[in-house]
Amino acid sequence: MTDTATARSADAADTRETERDLLSKFDETIKTRETLLSSGVTDPFNLVMERVLSPTRAICNGRDTILLGTYNYMGMTFDPDVLDAGKQALSDFGSGTTGSRVLNGTYQGHKECEDALREFYAMDHAMVFSTGYQANLGIISTLAGKGDYIVLDIDSHASIYDGCKMGDAEIVPFRHNDIEAMEKRLKRIPEGAGKLVVLEGVYSMLGDVAPLKEMVAIAKRHGAMVLVDEAHSMGFIGENGRGVAEDQGVIDDVDFIIGTFSKSVGTVGGFCVSNHPKFDIMRLVCRPYVFTASLPPSVVATAATSIRKLMHGANKRAHLWENSKRLHAGLKELGFELGTETPQSAIVAVIMPDLERGATMWEALLQQGLYVNLARPPATPANMTLLRCSLCAEHSSEEVETILQRFERAGKTVGIIG
Ligand SMILES: Cc1ncc(COP(=O)(O)O)c(C=O)c1O
Repeated sequence: MTDTATARSADAADTRETERDLLSKFDETIKTRETLLSSGVTDPFNLVMERVLSPTRAICNGRDTILLGTYNYMGMTFDPDVLDAGKQALSDFGSGTTGSRVLNGTYQGHKECEDALREFYAMDHAMVFSTGYQANLGIISTLAGKGDYIVLDIDSHASIYDGCKMGDAEIVPFRHNDIEAMEKRLKRIPEGAGKLVVLEGVYSMLGDVAPLKEMVAIAKRHGAMVLVDEAHSMGFIGENGRGVAEDQGVIDDVDFIIGTFSKSVGTVGGFCVSNHPKFDIMRLVCRPYVFTASLPPSVVATAATSIRKLMHGANKRAHLWENSKRLHAGLKELGFELGTETPQSAIVAVIMPDLERGATMWEALLQQGLYVNLARPPATPANMTLLRCSLCAEHSSEEVETILQRFERAGKTVGIIG
């Protein structure tokens, strides 16, 4: 380097601002995580399933483990017809589409998957996205833009909030499942403004169901369109498994239903179904649909097969209800505090006194061969730490009894029950 060059670079160094570490905003989260791990518990957010044996069993840390936290409600992940359909599509159509749905990414299988959804919901239109997250992101942001209003339950899923933010509409949250609060918010919206009410059928943190019958009626009375996310109810709740809107008799008044393939359907993907006559324009104007690659052929083939089988899933639905009721009653009898007074869905949330004891309990269950989801603030309502249990139609009644025994032993060891 010449002397002049050296002088120039020294000058540049003098005037350079100190670099601001953009990751420093996560210091609090890093500290909480380090404190938790320094207490000696296994990292609850880093579990590896070494082998998956069935919808309800996997090998974790070398141990045969009952899965009670997978949202695999209808146990379709190992259904022989579903697996065959996936294998066939993989060999007939290849491993991926390498393209957007609006370019080279729509195969016969995507159409068949949308046909299956239309039939499942008895609705005119269905649009398949690459995930449920993208379905909410895309549909909400495309429907409600600047100047429009979105009235939503405060406990809505992150994908709903992100969709609201992306569209730039005014967000008006109301207290969880509070019918009056929802109506109050709707009344305050300026006349003539575009209004979208966004609700979920089942709220996944506590497993409670929304009063859709009342809420949808109020929304309609105030001239709002209604979108219901039925991610945690599809396949299970309602006579035909169409969700809480079907169960409460208001499905015909709901303008848009959002769902996912990552729960009852047993694969990955998301969708929106609707009877709105202009719905198909969404395929051209919805950015998270247009600007991403479509699902692989094997995935849409498994989804379509699974959805068609779910139409005839009445026996499985009945068994899943039995499982949910037994687990709820059994945990209550043992003295655990639960998220709902009565079983309302396939999710049973067990409330822990704090994060430390929650993580210790989670680990004690895992060591006995039982996997549940640990949920902690800020993702949880009212900053609760929860052990979220999601039941599967493939859990046998004996497995549910084993689950209760493991909860009893772990709860007593950790000192959560007497
Ligand atoms: C209510 C709700 N909506 C949407 C999603 C997103 O679904 P996906 O896993 O398909 O992205 C989830 C997933 O947890 C959810 O709970």
